[in-house]
Amino acid sequence: MLSTTLLTVAAFAAGANAHFRLLAPTWRGSSFEEPASQWIYPCANVNETTDMANRTLWPPTGGSTIINGSHTSALTSVNLALGSNATNFNITLLEMFNQTGAGVFCMKETGKANLEEGFKAAGYSGLDDERINGLMATVQVIQLGHSGSALYNCADIMFNATAELLSDDQCQNGTDVSGVAIANVGSVTEEGGDAAASPAPTGAAGRLSPVVGTGMVAVVLAWSLL
Ligand SMILES: *[C@@H]1O[C@H](CO)[C@@H](O)[C@H](O)[C@H]1NC(C)=O
Ligand SMILES: *[C@@H]1O[C@H](CO)[C@@H](O)[C@H](O)[C@H]1NC(C)=O
Ligand SMILES: *[C@@H]1O[C@H](CO)[C@@H](O)[C@H](O)[C@H]1NC(C)=O
Ligand SMILES: *[C@@H]1O[C@H](CO)[C@@H](O)[C@H](O)[C@H]1NC(C)=O
Ligand SMILES: *[C@@H]1O[C@H](CO)[C@@H](O)[C@H](O)[C@H]1NC(C)=O
Ligand SMILES: *[C@@H]1O[C@H](CO)[C@@H](O)[C@H](O)[C@H]1NC(C)=O
Ligand SMILES: *[C@@H]1O[C@H](CO)[C@@H](O)[C@H](O)[C@H]1NC(C)=O
Ligand SMILES: *[C@@H]1O[C@H](CO)[C@@H](O)[C@H](O)[C@H]1NC(C)=O
Repeated sequence: MLSTTLLTVAAFAAGANAHFRLLAPTWRGSSFEEPASQWIYPCANVNETTDMANRTLWPPTGGSTIINGSHTSALTSVNLALGSNATNFNITLLEMFNQTGAGVFCMKETGKANLEEGFKAAGYSGLDDERINGLMATVQVIQLGHSGSALYNCADIMFNATAELLSDDQCQNGTDVSGVAIANVGSVTEEGGDAAASPAPTGAAGRLSPVVGTGMVAVVLAWSLL
């Protein structure tokens, strides 16, 4: 009784209603209904789809990712595990960034800057390795709550050289929805220039600085080039 109450209180304190939806690639299934729970690593306790036809086809250069978030801001990252039933989400498609504004957020060619390296680390020769065509994988999107808790959603994909990105009509950021570098990260301030006006390090941002390295700068710069 007591522990249930405490858990409930903890869940609300962490923003129990602040879950997010993964709209693209198609998620494994709703993570809003039990026994699923977005608090559960790595994929919200939703099993991998067994239906090949339900896997979103992704170009080997990265596909479109759409989330519908409910936080005014949430530190967000996107990872990938190669293979079926894989549990090793060791390819970082997008390093942690600050997703700002509640609503629909779309990224084109998610992980374009990091996918080739990830394929090579897994023994593929490069993006045009024939074995990548038809390769299964799982995309994992993580959003951190303001208390430091993490929410997870996963989508099963299949790489396919003929797969297309979502159209510009389908892939848009909502009004006032965007993504920025995490504030107060030393390397961003030093190399990014624009971040120099950031306020002094506080709380989560200060603690995150050792984790977020120069890759963050690269991601943000890559976005601005799209
Ligand atoms: C998920 O997979 C596990 C292990 O194979 C199984 O016990 C469980 O019933 C599955 N859950 C659903 C919702 O299918
Ligand atoms: C595949 O997708 C269809 C349509 O969305 C859905 O009805 C079906 O339950 C899905 N199959 C699995 C195994 O998730
Ligand atoms: C995003 O979530 C909001 C709030 O739940 C909802 O009103 C809106 O319809 C959702 N948008 C899409 C594209 O699903
Ligand atoms: C994942 O594992 C489950 C249970 O072991 C199995 O039923 C399912 O077919 C596997 N999925 C894929 C895509 O191999
Ligand atoms: C990810 O894990 C797979 C298998 O566990 C391994 O082959 C690959 O080298 C790893 N990739 C990275 C980028 O660490
Ligand atoms: C790639 O997708 C196309 C169109 O859906 C399909 O005809 C083809 O068989 C797929 N290739 C592989 C290797 O799965
Ligand atoms: C959404 O915002 C992010 C961050 O500014 C940007 O990288 C991305 O390209 C935007 N999405 C679209 C479809 O313009
Ligand atoms: C993320 O952006 C929001 C809104 O601009 C800001 O209040 C928050 O401090 C930022 N968080 C971090 C860690 O950069």
